[in-house]
Amino acid sequence: MPPKRIELHGQWFRLFIPRQEIAQSVRSLSRRIEQDYAGRELTCVVILKGAFIFAADLLRQLSLPCRIEMLRAQSYGMQMTSSGTVHFEPTTVDIRGRDVLLIEDIVDTGLTLQALVHHLQSQEPASLQIATLLAKPAAQHLALPLTYVGKHIPAVFVVGYGMDYAEAGRTLPDIYALEDS
Ligand code: IMP
Ligand code: MG
Repeated sequence: MPPKRIELHGQWFRLFIPRQEIAQSVRSLSRRIEQDYAGRELTCVVILKGAFIFAADLLRQLSLPCRIEMLRAQSYGMQMTSSGTVHFEPTTVDIRGRDVLLIEDIVDTGLTLQALVHHLQSQEPASLQIATLLAKPAAQHLALPLTYVGKHIPAVFVVGYGMDYAEAGRTLPDIYALEDS
């Protein structure tokens, strides 16, 4: 049994999505993706660092040919974050003419994703869809369609299963939410 509460950097978090529930979400996403892409080869672009655990679980369940690219997305401070200016490493990935599935851990405002989609569209993929394990309510105001969402959650701050609080908590097998949020 995972602990009900944990402390990271002096903040308390409560158990929010246990591993069995995460696994169910990942399984149903993988089934949908398999059906939608049957007979095609996928190019998955994993957004580091947060999505690496979700991607590892999701992609091992797909019986589809799959290429993997990884991108590190970093916002340039508060001002630029709000304007959606995001820096990507590496700046180019080989996606021209490919069916691309962008894999993200969690979408909040979606500014990171919006900048990334804009960046990737300029490389002319055949198609581009988004898979995210979690989406917060703000994501509903996005112009971007989130095709594959594992779970819609309220506006709480979460850690675990790849997601961090100041680099702590990424390796937790369960997802925790900040208490009193
Ligand atoms: P955005 O607001 O959708 O642009 O979110 C930017 C990035 O912040 C996401 O890709 C996540 O990696 C991270 N993030 C958003 N919400 C949370 C959270 O609750 N916990 C940990 N990371 C988060
Ligand atoms: Mg992320």
